[in-house]
Amino acid sequence: MPYRTCEIRAAKGSEAEKIHDYYQAKNDVNVLPRPLKDLRESAEKGLFFVAETNAALIAVSGVFDLGPIPYVELGGTFVDGIVRGFGIQELLFRLRIASVILNEGPEMGILTAVDPSNQASTHNAVKCGFNEWPNPVSELFEPCESCPKRQETQAKGRRCCCEFYILPEANARREVQNLLDAAASSCTIRRTHKETGENLVIEIRSQLLTENRALLVAFAAGEKW
Ligand SMILES: CC(C)(COP(=O)(O)OP(=O)(O)OC[C@H]1O[C@@H](n2cnc3c(N)ncnc32)[C@H](O)[C@@H]1OP(=O)(O)O)[C@@H](O)C(=O)NCCC(=O)NCCS
Repeated sequence: MPYRTCEIRAAKGSEAEKIHDYYQAKNDVNVLPRPLKDLRESAEKGLFFVAETNAALIAVSGVFDLGPIPYVELGGTFVDGIVRGFGIQELLFRLRIASVILNEGPEMGILTAVDPSNQASTHNAVKCGFNEWPNPVSELFEPCESCPKRQETQAKGRRCCCEFYILPEANARREVQNLLDAAASSCTIRRTHKETGENLVIEIRSQLLTENRALLVAFAAGEKW
């Protein structure tokens, strides 16, 4: 069976415009448009990940600050149609969780928001340890005031078009361990598509799994700092 390849790495701040253009070109209804500034800040902190094949973007995914509240939001994931079904979103969840632990500290709250009709994303968020958060902090609803889906959302009797999910610390440790296990002997991960049987070889190029690996091992084992 032939195989394709891709590489996942943290984006640089200087790549924010390219990423912004990619989102605009894809214009996916499930991905909240984010200003260039937010993409740049996420990338500058080492919290934005891209997947590429032959230097062309095939997936993007970020972590975004939520102002004064001690939470970050995992969001902005888009995986190109040709590489869907290989579990790239799951890997991106785990890489972002690990990057928040190292870059923002283990105390930082980690949340995500998913439109309930997006079954694949809901499945992946729950699989990666997120629990439904029925009554989240009220600050999270502030962007709803200017959301393009506001009318549609209110007509459904909802406060926000998305459901919020929060990651308990024990699950963050488990997911970091899952990431370490997946890349235990090398940073090359092979995935087979459940329906087509096609293979994708994913190379993770990240300090998380090299220079910073020992810290992640300590976190997964229950250490605090
Ligand atoms: C949602 C998205 C990111 C998923 O990316 P992906 O890397 O292809 O994820 P996968 O399809 O490999 O996910 C695989 C898992 O989801 C499950 N899944 C896929 N479609 C599903 C569905 N309709 N209902 C339930 N589970 C589903 C698969 O069974 C698989 O589960 P498993 O790993 O436990 O076997 C991608 O489809 C995408 O970019 N969509 C458009 C933008 C978007 O929705 N972004 C997310 C915003 S929150």
